[in-house]
Amino acid sequence: MAVKAVLRMGDPFLLQKASPVERLDDPELHTLIQDLEDTMRFMNGAGIAAPQIGVGARVVIFGQKRMPINAVGEEVKNPRYPDADEVPYTVLINPTVTPLGEAMEDGWEGCLSVPGLRGVVPRYTRIHYTGVDQYGNNIDRLVSGFHARVVQHECDHLEGVLYPMRIQDLSKFGYTRVLFPNQDIQDD
Ligand code: NI
Repeated sequence: MAVKAVLRMGDPFLLQKASPVERLDDPELHTLIQDLEDTMRFMNGAGIAAPQIGVGARVVIFGQKRMPINAVGEEVKNPRYPDADEVPYTVLINPTVTPLGEAMEDGWEGCLSVPGLRGVVPRYTRIHYTGVDQYGNNIDRLVSGFHARVVQHECDHLEGVLYPMRIQDLSKFGYTRVLFPNQDIQDD
């Protein structure tokens, strides 16, 4: 278990472009992925990218391995995104992301590197993404909705782009607890 410190917006490292991973199924890579997973779970993130823990490699992880079940048999939602659709747990290395069509949709986003805030970000509705996992297995998916949004957000981190840089209407950017005072959304 190694929960790492997450770099926060303002750190110039988050603005750098990450480098491709050349050695798969390698002890250093496995340690990185375990650190990313431990950090994402500890902070209840929907996803995390290697640059957020100070590693400039083209590695992102996102999604949930399983939805835990609570005492009365209901699935426990991610407390940061209680209304989000389930996204399968995915390790994605050296990704490509291609929009399918030009349709975009607005949605609220947060980021572990931008704690306490949420903003409305336009993202492509449908995408095709590819990459490999840590063992070199190919990943090739057509996805939409929240899954597509998470992939676009995480892969942006590999280009040095944080979601506030994509907000078009800054009136829809603010503190989570002020924007959604009646909702129990974790955000720190
Ligand atoms: Ni992020």
